[in-house]
Amino acid sequence: MEVIRVQDVASVSKDEIPLEFIRSETEQPGITTVRGVHLEVPTIDFSNPNEEELVSQMVEASQNWGMFQIVNHGIPHEDIANLQAVGQAFFQLPQHEKELIAKIPGSVEGYGTTLQKELQGKKGWVDHLFHKVWPPSAVNYRFWPKNPPSYREANEEYVKKLHGVVEKLFKSLNKGLGLHGNELWEAAGGERLEYLMKINYYPPCPRPDLALGVPAHTDMSTFTILVPNHVPGLQAFRDDHWYDVDYIPNALVIHIGDQIEIMSNGKYKAVFHRTTVCDKTRMSWPVFLEPPSDHVVGPLPGLINDQNPPKFKTKTYGDYAYCKLNKIPQ
Ligand code: SIN
Ligand code: FE2
Repeated sequence: MEVIRVQDVASVSKDEIPLEFIRSETEQPGITTVRGVHLEVPTIDFSNPNEEELVSQMVEASQNWGMFQIVNHGIPHEDIANLQAVGQAFFQLPQHEKELIAKIPGSVEGYGTTLQKELQGKKGWVDHLFHKVWPPSAVNYRFWPKNPPSYREANEEYVKKLHGVVEKLFKSLNKGLGLHGNELWEAAGGERLEYLMKINYYPPCPRPDLALGVPAHTDMSTFTILVPNHVPGLQAFRDDHWYDVDYIPNALVIHIGDQIEIMSNGKYKAVFHRTTVCDKTRMSWPVFLEPPSDHVVGPLPGLINDQNPPKFKTKTYGDYAYCKLNKIPQ
């Protein structure tokens, strides 16, 4: 089946865009964005030797925002630049080369465009590539680009450096809940925790006032570690309104996802966010930290008592994802 990619649509859209990309008035960024205000996401300095301060900043950001950025994270700029360069090179390949790793029915991984129309039959102005990058037993290189040839090495180097950041995030969030050891990480799957890489490719759009990139959502993951390119486009929902979000170049952007909200029994909040598009190509590289699909996730027993009954159901991550993707109440 021939699938039309947004990159192709963009290349022939000069002034107008097809109807299926025009959002309803309740979603159009031109109408629903608070203008003139840019929110600065809380910044956490990972090189801060004062661990208590770092943990309390993370707790504050995770409770009130569900989003923060990390500076001095220890991942060399070169590794991030390489990750971005090979992703960019992949999306610049001729269409037929990208189609070699297109998604096949039933698979999350591969090159694709969200085919399933969203609510009200609208589509996002974005193509993507998904592939797992960790643990090795979960990796299927069939969905990794063969071109450019350095794609694999650049991704593997980035992932190698990412482990330290993942570990520090889990430990700090764990401490912030008053838990011991590495309980939160264990509860998320421990050694079986999966890292799912996504590349979002948002082509230039002639009507950024009417279209959205990724529509409003919370991430299903435990948390997400995201590298953006230099083009802004992330928005967060705060106090019932949508705001553009600013981030510091080379910072890592962290989204608290549904699974951390569940495990913390609602203490930490998953951030409700969406992306806008503009006259430039925007790209982003989120890595979703996900429990394996057969892993059972629920509010941590240590946080539950008579005063704090569980606010969420306990179920496998696979069941959770199935309900979320099919819009079945959890
Ligand atoms: C997403 O939340 O799915 C994308 C975020 C981004 O592109 O910044
Ligand atoms: Fe997201």
